[in-house]
Amino acid sequence: MSKIFSISKPLDMHLHLRDNDMLNLVGPLTSNTFCGAIIMPNLVPPVTTKEAVVAYKNRIKQACGNDTFEPYMTLFFQNYSREFLEDVKDEITAIKLYPAGITTNSETGVSSMDIETLRPTLQAMSDLGIILCIHGETNGFVMDREAEFMPIYESIASNFPNLKIIMEHITTKSAVEMLDKYPNLYATITLHHLLITLDDVVGGMLKPHLFCKPIAKRYEDRAALLNVALGANPKVCFGSDSAPHPKNKKESCGCAAGVFTAPIALQVLTELFEKHNCLDNLQKFVSDNAINIYGINPPSKTITLEKADFKVPSSYKNDTETVVPMYANEVIKWSLVN
Ligand code: NCD
Ligand code: ZN
Repeated sequence: MSKIFSISKPLDMHLHLRDNDMLNLVGPLTSNTFCGAIIMPNLVPPVTTKEAVVAYKNRIKQACGNDTFEPYMTLFFQNYSREFLEDVKDEITAIKLYPAGITTNSETGVSSMDIETLRPTLQAMSDLGIILCIHGETNGFVMDREAEFMPIYESIASNFPNLKIIMEHITTKSAVEMLDKYPNLYATITLHHLLITLDDVVGGMLKPHLFCKPIAKRYEDRAALLNVALGANPKVCFGSDSAPHPKNKKESCGCAAGVFTAPIALQVLTELFEKHNCLDNLQKFVSDNAINIYGINPPSKTITLEKADFKVPSSYKNDTETVVPMYANEVIKWSLVN
């Protein structure tokens, strides 16, 4: 008998589902294992109206068919009026702030992080209980971008003590250290940043499928991330940042940023937590912490995994899209039980 492990209500608190044929391909690869996910708004054009949120949510539900799956919707940050936010608040869980041009489809993001420019929107969000999710990178040297953003997190966290702020996909020791400083600061952590360092991306042959924003960092950074994730620190939760791009946009000169982990995320998290003798903490990292942080009530769903080898497919495809997952053609140690 192989070893069995079950997780209740697994949640992915940072997910890119894209749209159209790509959505139809990748949506079910998340909804068959997760009971809900925070859906990123960086479509082209970005999601900035109530109509767009509602319509996108419906397209996601359609793509995910009969799976029990709640898409927690977000808006793309702009300076929104209080009236607009009051009207839209029941349709969204959070607003995602991208500094302009910092990552995929963020060209219309925030061009100045000046707190006074952002104040009316942030104050309204704080008053209405809308969570602020931030892609925290400057446009400095690529390895320093996240660390350089820390003073901006500090400024927002101290100016808006009642605003819940999520530092998305943190990759550095400096971001981990920030968690203890402000009660209203939380973080998501991806699977790939718990597994790889910059060495895996560019230290040997260049690995385009591991290239993402923020870029994977140093060994001491990964150690700091592992410490809070494996320990299920209540201020962090899982957010895959699974970010599918067509195969020809990854295997190209000018590789798009994003690692596609949706189909293997829960299995490899189980492998990682087991390897570190922390399986007892996985339920918190991948569900309970998120429920507490975001104040959500996700639908019931229990996923059972068994310790059995699974060969990851070379790609996932439909008639028009092909996307390559992390660990393509490799063997992982846990499988989903159907
Ligand atoms: C994401 C994408 O492709 O949308 N890419 C990435 O490298 N993570 C955007 C993002 O979350 O930065
Ligand atoms: Zn992302």
